[in-house]
Amino acid sequence: MTSAELNKDPGAIARMFDGIAGRYDITNEWLSAGMAKRWRRIVTREIGPRPGMRILDIAAGTGTSSLPLHEAGANVTAADFSAGMVAEGKRRHPELDIVEADATNLPFDDDTFDVTTISFGLRNVIEPTKALEEMLRVTRPGGRIVICEFSTPVNTFIRSAYNLYLRQLLPRVAGVIARNTDSYVYLAESIAQWPNQPELGRWMLAAGWHKVAYRNLTGGIVAMHRGTKPIVTETGDQTGL
Ligand SMILES: C[S@@+](CC[C@H](N)C(=O)[O-])C[C@H]1O[C@@H](n2cnc3c(N)ncnc32)[C@H](O)[C@@H]1O
Repeated sequence: MTSAELNKDPGAIARMFDGIAGRYDITNEWLSAGMAKRWRRIVTREIGPRPGMRILDIAAGTGTSSLPLHEAGANVTAADFSAGMVAEGKRRHPELDIVEADATNLPFDDDTFDVTTISFGLRNVIEPTKALEEMLRVTRPGGRIVICEFSTPVNTFIRSAYNLYLRQLLPRVAGVIARNTDSYVYLAESIAQWPNQPELGRWMLAAGWHKVAYRNLTGGIVAMHRGTKPIVTETGDQTGL
């Protein structure tokens, strides 16, 4: 399956993640040279989980992004459409509530969650703007979205070195650790095709999110975007802009 074919087929994406589920977390640690833990800490701080807070973690995979939210006492629903990732997540973290769900057609009522979040997932969703709209729908008015995703390094030198790493080194290292080179060729290509920080911000605004802002992590290798669902008053005015 080429990455061009993967780009058009949600079933193929789900099967690809089914295939790497068992070695997903260990491969991540190696490929990010341990930086993934730091990125996750920053995202958790931004979400600000507290007891009783209702959080939806979409494209939660094996539950690694959901765990710190659950451990802080929040009421976390982890959702992913890969049966393999969900099964691996349930095996590793039986304490988590992990469900099979598609980000573009979420099985939750309107205005259900205080925060919806997605880490390293939105880039894999075939219709990401539809997912942003679905996330808005299930978030309560005044609630927030937090997105963590690979992005565009701001410095030319870092960008060149990073591109070389993605194209040359990453698929080889992943071939050894994940025993699956194709999935990581897809990873490199999907990162290269992903919109930069301001463009993703514009997608969020177009989906209806307000107060959109982003923060670069590790020079923009990763970016964390945030936004707020507007509160519509009885007169139809929107507040919280
Ligand atoms: C790179 S993993 C990220 C997992 C986790 N959030 C993390 O931070 O480690 C991407 C996940 O996105 C999921 N995914 C891709 N498209 C999806 C969709 N349309 N709906 C739900 N999950 C999706 C894949 O199944 C995969 O588990």
